[in-house]
Amino acid sequence: MTNTIESIRLAIIGCGTTGRIRANFARQYPGIEWLGLCDLDSALGKQLAEDTSADFFTTDFEELLDRSEVNAVMVLTDENRHTAPALKAADNGHKLFIEKPLAADALESRQILKAVEEAGIDACVGYTQRFRRRFLTIKERVTNGQLGEIHSVITRAMMNRMVPLATLAKTKKRKGLTPMVVSGTHSLDMSLWLMGGKVPISVYARSTEKVLAELGTKDSTFGLFTMEDGTIFSMNISWCLPTVWPGSVYGLEIAIVGTKGVIDVEDTHRDLVLATEDSLPAGYTPEGYEPPMERHVDFLTSYPPGDIWNHQLWGPMKEETMSWFSRIMMGAETPHASAEDGHRNLLLAMAMDRSAELRQEIALPIDPEAFLS
Ligand SMILES: NC(=O)c1ccc[n+]([C@@H]2O[C@H](COP(=O)([O-])OP(=O)(O)OC[C@H]3O[C@@H](n4cnc5c(N)ncnc54)[C@H](O)[C@@H]3O)[C@@H](O)[C@H]2O)c1
Repeated sequence: MTNTIESIRLAIIGCGTTGRIRANFARQYPGIEWLGLCDLDSALGKQLAEDTSADFFTTDFEELLDRSEVNAVMVLTDENRHTAPALKAADNGHKLFIEKPLAADALESRQILKAVEEAGIDACVGYTQRFRRRFLTIKERVTNGQLGEIHSVITRAMMNRMVPLATLAKTKKRKGLTPMVVSGTHSLDMSLWLMGGKVPISVYARSTEKVLAELGTKDSTFGLFTMEDGTIFSMNISWCLPTVWPGSVYGLEIAIVGTKGVIDVEDTHRDLVLATEDSLPAGYTPEGYEPPMERHVDFLTSYPPGDIWNHQLWGPMKEETMSWFSRIMMGAETPHASAEDGHRNLLLAMAMDRSAELRQEIALPIDPEAFLS
């Protein structure tokens, strides 16, 4: 952990879904002395600035990051627009939090990691699910050795198609916005974090594209990683389930098998079901996105950032945001993902995509340059 700061003067770049959530938390944290916001969409950003009584708003992230007040930065822009603000924040030596994925391009991701390392700053990446109580206790049990030596991990993520529909609608730069890079990355990070330091040496994957091909992405990607110590890790995601699938965003299952124990995680949220004659909102609703058809059934608690009570979000994104403030202000130890974790996750997700595309096993680690061809 690098040095701490006495009070936080925070710049938030990106005032959309996650920007709104995190800016509201910033306003609840007593250590935030100053809050500056930035969004290209001036109406959206000004509205959040008003709602959070922000001290400053601009549509130009450079102007915000060069303000003398700023000492901490959250980059919460769209997946393929993290790089420029992240590089500038690192260059300015600010504490840094970047939404996942670190970048949507392998070379840009390496550039961010290099900038962070050269600046010697603390940079965290938004792998929010690490902050859920169930995953924290699993991590603890695995670390305590209750499973023995882990040798097999099976991960299955299922999502309806609203995230790809909403995410891809926002941009024409769709190359790289695959199920693994945008969403599978959460389960990949979780599985690797729980396994603790295992190093993948190869991956073999396949994808399908019956539903979302016209949007320029895949439906499902299934892969098998082999680790240096022989562990096998099967990572599977499908993000094209029908819009009416009741998972608000994410349903996950992970089995972690060790020589003397196993943990079987049922995180599909099927234990809490709401059915109503009312039409339910989409789980993920960036500005301007409407679900293409009515939904009447929801697995409650399946919205990854958390759940709303009384217009407030409670859940892992709150834990993650608030504990990041404690981390940079008081040096609190937290389970945040590092920029290095984020870079590793992107390269592994992209290696799965590459393996599926070439229909070949890919040796790991892979150089970011390999994705240029
Ligand atoms: N950690 C999680 O659980 C979680 C959940 C949802 C989204 N995300 C990630 O958060 C990021 C943002 O997603 P979102 O859902 O908030 O998207 P969003 O579309 O709701 O908001 C993104 C905002 O960034 C703004 N923006 C883009 N480029 C900008 C720039 N150069 N300068 C200033 N503003 C800019 C856009 O105008 C938009 O308002 C993505 O990387 C996404 O994958 C993470």
